Amino acid sequence: MSIQQGSDNQNQSIHGLWTNRWMFVLAATGSAVGLGNIWKFPYITGENGGGAFVLVYLLCVAVIGIPIMMTEVLLGRRGRSTPINTIRRLCDEASASRFWVVIGWFGMLAGLLILSFYSVIGGWALVYIPNAMSGMFSGSTAEQVAEIFNGLLASPGTLLFWHSVFMLMTMTIVARGVEKGIEKAVRILMPVLFVLLLVMVGYAMNLGEFARGVAFLFKPDFSALSANGVLIAMGHAFFTLSLGMGAIMIYGAYLPKDVSIAKVSIIIAVADTLVALLAGLAIFPIVFANGLEPSAGPGLIFVTLPIAFGQMPGGVFFSTLFFVLLSFAALSSAISLVEPVVTWLVENKKMSRVRASTLAGFVIWCIGIGTVLSFNVTSAVTVFEKTFFDLLDFIATNIMLPLGGLAMALFAGWFLPRLISADELSMGQGAGFRVWWFLVRYITPCAVVLVFLNATKII
Ligand code: PHE
Repeated sequence: MSIQQGSDNQNQSIHGLWTNRWMFVLAATGSAVGLGNIWKFPYITGENGGGAFVLVYLLCVAVIGIPIMMTEVLLGRRGRSTPINTIRRLCDEASASRFWVVIGWFGMLAGLLILSFYSVIGGWALVYIPNAMSGMFSGSTAEQVAEIFNGLLASPGTLLFWHSVFMLMTMTIVARGVEKGIEKAVRILMPVLFVLLLVMVGYAMNLGEFARGVAFLFKPDFSALSANGVLIAMGHAFFTLSLGMGAIMIYGAYLPKDVSIAKVSIIIAVADTLVALLAGLAIFPIVFANGLEPSAGPGLIFVTLPIAFGQMPGGVFFSTLFFVLLSFAALSSAISLVEPVVTWLVENKKMSRVRASTLAGFVIWCIGIGTVLSFNVTSAVTVFEKTFFDLLDFIATNIMLPLGGLAMALFAGWFLPRLISADELSMGQGAGFRVWWFLVRYITPCAVVLVFLNATKII
């Protein structure tokens, strides 16, 4: 990030400010667009029946995601610090109980837990780079591609190795400071990823099963969607937009005062959603054209895309490029998952960035071993029919992120003085402000609580 010193708020950011709003949009989009869009969205859509799930997810992005994103950015910009210190400052400013600082603690924990499995999946993307380059997929059948993927899952050593590489890359960037690391890469590689996805969709259009793929994604069949599926759709809205754990709050802390929070939030949410929908449009026609199951689970993109790459002209080039871009997208999300923890260690524990990154990275790497083993050695060990990976993902994504978002909405809607929010959002007290206010005060909290109650079968 290009950061200049100074702040026009009474709260000063000790880390400076983004030079303009595009730097923020870029960093926040880098955080939002990642494995969530390309790996997770297609597979959970496949597992939860398609269209109805997508519709609920889109609704959640609009009614919960965008208002919470605005809330996180506004809290961050007002507090100008790490989530914990930001909330503490705002509690004092609002004369509210310091209880709300729990948002910061909870968020840091969610970030650690999510990165622990995110890194293992990031490792899958990394190992597929040499796989693609070697031409391993050229002319492969669906069975051969599945065999390669299952072979990877069956090998704890290989998974651990690539999980370690991914963590090392992430923590090296974080240790050097986000600004020096990934900024330029994101600026160039994200648009390329977007174009490559368009190419993939173009390819999928010629497969003969495109219409079926489109229908699967966009034709809602509510009998295929369970209460649990609704919870997963809401959790994914938080996950894919990086909300509920403080990542967007910490990026918001560096945002100059004159930027419209509503506009940038909508830009980020739309860009993120487009990437996910493109990924879905590329993948499901391939699934149907090859007689595969949409509900294949976490391996879905790793067993479908290589088939298409293996058949298309220039497949070795395109597949290598694709997995390089996917890895970068994953890295720019991973650094935002751990940034709140590292910055907190630097600010509050007076550690150097390098020490803080090493410590956080090591803890996360250790937890990640649980995920590595859950695909092989401990795959039969389940709690509530979930492996370690499934359980961790479920708790962190579907419970912790929405709870964090709920707390932020309640804090901003009911405890932070209305004038402060209006001042930060700079929309005056007009219709735009009133819509946001109404959403965070009533709609967002009620929606989150209703989905929770529904999933636990209480209502
Ligand atoms: N949004 C990222 C993705 O879709 C994951 C993420 C979640 C990043 C939460 C930061 C915080 O891949």
